[in-house]
Amino acid sequence: MTAKQWPAASKYLDARIVGRRDLTERISEFLIGGADGAALPPGDAGSHIELRFGGPAGRFLRHYSLIGPLSPEKSPEPFWRIAVQREDRFRGSAFIHATFREGTRLRVSRPIGTFRLGRNVPHALLVAGGVGITPILPMMRSLSFRNRPFHMVYAGRRREEMAYADEVEAIGGDHATILEADRSGFPDLRALLAGQPEGTVVYVCGPGPMIDALTTAAAGLGWDHGRVRYEVFNAAHRPDDHGLTVELRDGRLIEVGAGTTILDALEQAGVDTLSDCRRGECGLCLTDVVPGDAVIDHRDSFLSEAERAEGRQMCVCCSRVANASKLKLAI
Ligand code: FES
Repeated sequence: MTAKQWPAASKYLDARIVGRRDLTERISEFLIGGADGAALPPGDAGSHIELRFGGPAGRFLRHYSLIGPLSPEKSPEPFWRIAVQREDRFRGSAFIHATFREGTRLRVSRPIGTFRLGRNVPHALLVAGGVGITPILPMMRSLSFRNRPFHMVYAGRRREEMAYADEVEAIGGDHATILEADRSGFPDLRALLAGQPEGTVVYVCGPGPMIDALTTAAAGLGWDHGRVRYEVFNAAHRPDDHGLTVELRDGRLIEVGAGTTILDALEQAGVDTLSDCRRGECGLCLTDVVPGDAVIDHRDSFLSEAERAEGRQMCVCCSRVANASKLKLAI
């Protein structure tokens, strides 16, 4: 019997949770299957999916990397595997942890491949920070299968908070290093890069400051910009974010909670918006700002430095305000 296939045209697919387990105190793994036994389309190493879910407390759209099988052997799985870190102030992940159980229905996109592993890079350095391991682990697995040269560094505060540390060691062997900051401090990223073979390409996923430090170190060593490829984990949220009020052209005031994006708040208020990636990459949510005192805290990777400095537009899916609690948007 062949598995039921999805019609090629549908952007979102009906799915359900088919398994759940806790990996650490704050990170849980969820297995996702097609709602009616349909096979979900496979994703490449580094690809992610959009999840649409929610209830009366709010509707959410979030992105999660497809982790793939955890075994070093070739073993395709009939479901998708994701891992979600609970951030209590960020309502989407808290909602998932509180409500997703076996049988929970949700909508999912097809795999999206914006963070691609090059097929033939001479040597890959994989760097994962915390739950940023989720796109990096399948990359390591792919490189290992194909016998491609790589080194992997997985950094976290302490091992018991680091999901899949055992699997990283089992798959990566001598090519994988686990760094616990509580024991050995934060890695010297400049020294790490300087010690790599000629032509190394870096793939990194983790918190924004880690990626900033790595790209700065690479620039300091004269590395070409394209040799550091990254995916920022949770670009939209930082622990010290505060709430703000957005004023629209018609005078409407929209409250944006500390753990909510401006885009989410606009949508919940019924304001017409455009968006796609929802993590500062595509520019579709770019919105005009009414000039004023507010200094935009740009967290996207779409606008150029010059455009950021102008402060006339912002990506409302992830950027906020650095110095004020009120922002006027020209919509
Ligand atoms: S939705 Fe893609 S940059 Fe905001």
